[in-house]
Amino acid sequence: MVCADLQLVEVGPRDGLQNEPLLVPTDIKVAFINRLSATGLRVIEATSFVSSRKVPQLADGAEVLRRIERRSGVRYAVLTPNATGFRAACAAGADEVAVFAAASETFSQRNLNCSIDESFDRFAPVCAAAKDAGVPVRGYVSCVLGCPFEGQVPIAAVTRVARRLAELGCYQISLGDTIGVGTPNRARQLVEAVAVDVPLARLAVHFHDTYGQALANILAMVERGVSVIDTAVGGLGGCPYAPGATGNVASEDVVYMLEGMGINTGVDLERLSEAAWFIGDAVGRPPNSKVSRAMAHCERSK
Ligand code: HMG
Ligand code: MG
Repeated sequence: MVCADLQLVEVGPRDGLQNEPLLVPTDIKVAFINRLSATGLRVIEATSFVSSRKVPQLADGAEVLRRIERRSGVRYAVLTPNATGFRAACAAGADEVAVFAAASETFSQRNLNCSIDESFDRFAPVCAAAKDAGVPVRGYVSCVLGCPFEGQVPIAAVTRVARRLAELGCYQISLGDTIGVGTPNRARQLVEAVAVDVPLARLAVHFHDTYGQALANILAMVERGVSVIDTAVGGLGGCPYAPGATGNVASEDVVYMLEGMGINTGVDLERLSEAAWFIGDAVGRPPNSKVSRAMAHCERSK
């Protein structure tokens, strides 16, 4: 059941930097993505094309995309909530885009300023234009294991949104535990329910680590056959519209765990950790990754 090769989707430059109180300079973002590109990661979510008033941290997305060194074999993905974002993303050369829905109405309103149904009205032209342009579209479902405003989210609400994204043409659906409240049994139950409608091979998981459960959840998902995992180097991340939620699971911690289990990620842990310290310097704190900290400690004591 466990896949011998797993794909990581590195969301640090997007999910990570969208929630930083400091605006990270464009030069640093470009250097950060270039470092990530040299680690063996195959998908890097580089930025978002959203309202710069809502997420000023990523207002330089087009410039970032234009200035990074494109490494062959790496796909540079971005978030696009609507046709405006899609057009800008294409003009800047995004390889892949993602639309992002929520399983909770309140979160949809806060994050996208519209209902779940209305969000699909905005995603439809993105998916149609992407199909014409040959650009792959990924779909996110937020709040799959809990909502910061509504609490528990029924599994049926998640399956409905995941199915709609798949029907719209999203090649992969990433299930987001936006506020990091999930635990392994519930996460397993959820994935099994969603997989009735959307094949497991098309599912990814996206765990924030607010309650320290992300690695345990990922292990449960991998054992259940999930083969795509979203992570953020240095444990960066959070959503400006999910109060109290902390960063994503750290990419380094996931790579260390998987490689230790004999599962190939294709990612060079040393380089990944160097990228984590690099962006840590820029945001003014060390990586929130046990592995990166332990590796730095070992290095110092040599
Ligand atoms: P709206 O107000 O409903 O849309 O915003 P609008 O069409 O009325 O436009 C309002 C203003 O935004 C206008 O500018 C538009 O031009 C501009 P104004 O005339 O006021 O100066 N605008 C845009 N500008 C740039 N790019 C665009 C764009 N669209 C409109 N694409 C909108 C709707 C979605 C744009 C807004 O609510 C928004 O930007 N929200 C931010 C959403 C966001 O980035 N959230 C964080 C990412 S999601 C996440 O982190 C969760 C995830 O990680 C998974 C998980 O953890 O669960 C993915
Ligand atoms: Mg997220």
